[in-house]
Amino acid sequence: QTPAPTQTPAENEIPKYYLVTEGMLTVGSDIAYPPFEFTDEKTGKYAGFDIDLMTEIAKRLGLEVKFVNTAWDGIIPGLLSKKYDVICSAMTITEERAKQVDFSEPYFEAKQVIITRADDTSIQSVKDLDGKKVAVQQGTTGDFAAERLKEKGINLEIIRFEGTPEALMAIQKGDADAAIIDNFVAYLAVKKDPKVYRVVEDPEFEPEYYGIAVNKDNKGLLEAINKALEEIKKDGTYDKIYEKWFGS
Ligand code: ARG
Repeated sequence: QTPAPTQTPAENEIPKYYLVTEGMLTVGSDIAYPPFEFTDEKTGKYAGFDIDLMTEIAKRLGLEVKFVNTAWDGIIPGLLSKKYDVICSAMTITEERAKQVDFSEPYFEAKQVIITRADDTSIQSVKDLDGKKVAVQQGTTGDFAAERLKEKGINLEIIRFEGTPEALMAIQKGDADAAIIDNFVAYLAVKKDPKVYRVVEDPEFEPEYYGIAVNKDNKGLLEAINKALEEIKKDGTYDKIYEKWFGS
């Protein structure tokens, strides 16, 4: 008689992790980045793709969820000093950042685009940024992309802002000619204010992938989040959330 197959301990082991607050997944995010994270003016509540995604992940881990609104500038230091358990803030997985934090499996594909004034036809590609004032949110991949363009000899002036809304405002006010920002944030700005903004795409900008950042000493949490993310992708929940925020 052959013995019944037994599960190996590794298979049913629940990954152990620590949390800043027991029973709660605390999420750091720069909540001024629609449609990923923003404050809903009607309800006064946080809303957006990342908010829904993290709420769903927390639910699957049997945890409450709490969002801590954090300036982008200090968002990684805040994770490292354990102000929150994870960062979910439309954060692009980069090699530099991965030296400091672990990233989940990618959950969103994005890229940089140029956003400019609707009535300004002088900008049709990255080359046209020569001699222009370009607004960016400091320390974002838009900022890094602008730097790279400068290194390639496109003589643009970078104006850095703490938040993306300020960078967009600078275009509207005429303080900047354009901004380099994440595509879906730009698309929404154009959708809201088509008379003000226009998007310019350029093959120069390569795909980027958003990840959820976790402290390197919290591998169990990373594993649990990846597992939840996989389930959410498999069972159609991801598509539902995507459809809610990006469906036509
Ligand atoms: N994806 C870009 C980056 O990682 C911009 C993210 C900005 N996020 C935000 N919530 N302001 O650099």
